[in-house]
Amino acid sequence: MKPIATVGVVGSGTMGRGIAESALQAGLQVILHDSSPDALSAARKQIEANLHRSVGKGQLPAQEASEYLGALDPAADMGALAGCQLVIEAVPEVLEVKLSVLAALEESVAGDVLIATNTSSIPITRLARALGHPDRFIGLHFFNPVPRMPLVEVIRAVHSSDATVAAARQFVAEALGKTPLVIEDRPGFVVNALLIPFLLAAARMLDSGYAEAEAIDDGMTLGCGHPMGPLKLADFIGLDVVCAAADAMYAQSPDPALVVPNNLRRLVDAGQLGAKTGRGFYDHR
Ligand SMILES: NC(=O)c1ccc[n+]([C@@H]2O[C@H](COP(=O)([O-])OP(=O)(O)OC[C@H]3O[C@@H](n4cnc5c(N)ncnc54)[C@H](O)[C@@H]3O)[C@@H](O)[C@H]2O)c1
Repeated sequence: MKPIATVGVVGSGTMGRGIAESALQAGLQVILHDSSPDALSAARKQIEANLHRSVGKGQLPAQEASEYLGALDPAADMGALAGCQLVIEAVPEVLEVKLSVLAALEESVAGDVLIATNTSSIPITRLARALGHPDRFIGLHFFNPVPRMPLVEVIRAVHSSDATVAAARQFVAEALGKTPLVIEDRPGFVVNALLIPFLLAAARMLDSGYAEAEAIDDGMTLGCGHPMGPLKLADFIGLDVVCAAADAMYAQSPDPALVVPNNLRRLVDAGQLGAKTGRGFYDHR
């Protein structure tokens, strides 16, 4: 596999723009593709604003910020990804959408290009079905906000070659300066396999009337040193995202710890999704 100098990112939403920004700050060329021109221009604006904020805080020289921005190429045409050595897919968490994007992507890039997916909950091996050459496919699971979060789960699918795993690990550690956690393809990988049952247990405790939300969160912040309690964290992740992750993991492995409690399901039904809608377990308005 060739050294990675140009990274492609497909999908310029929350995660895609964060991955693009991290790659730019690592000194790489970035080609950012999205099917929506509005999403592409919003992503470029946000990356520019984030870099300017760092300049304003004295964390980044203005000259470097403008070089980083100059290395960003927002592309409405997927064909622009042909010059990349690695392309990371970050389109919505919908199996059919990801399969069709990955199949189109394979048509657009050479046979030795590394292809990665940022899926949170779809088995990497299931997504590999879209590809004629699944040996060069791997999971790279970033965390939000990407520029600030140091961990990336590197998920080896059944067909991923050793060279693919080594190249992905090297990219994360040496190019991005983040910590790679190389793991097998299991439901929830490592982080969500631990986090989601924990968040659901907190919601279940609230639902049973055993303790108030503040008491549950204080228990974990003041008693265990967590930076944020589980109910507040669920509100910030988005209750719909928590439910979707739990349901997807339950569908792959029906563990009772992954059953969504009634209170959480009702909040999602009511559109009270947490901080992003102003209400969830807490009132954020
Ligand atoms: N948001 C998170 O906290 C988080 C964390 C880790 C992983 N993920 C995963 O990252 C992926 C992306 O999530 P997100 O939150 O950034 O989603 P998002 O909805 O913010 O962004 C998705 C982007 O993909 C674009 N898109 C849709 N269809 C496309 C297509 N056919 N071709 C090109 N672009 C297309 C959309 O226009 C949008 O800009 C998902 O798989 C999600 O599970 C999300």
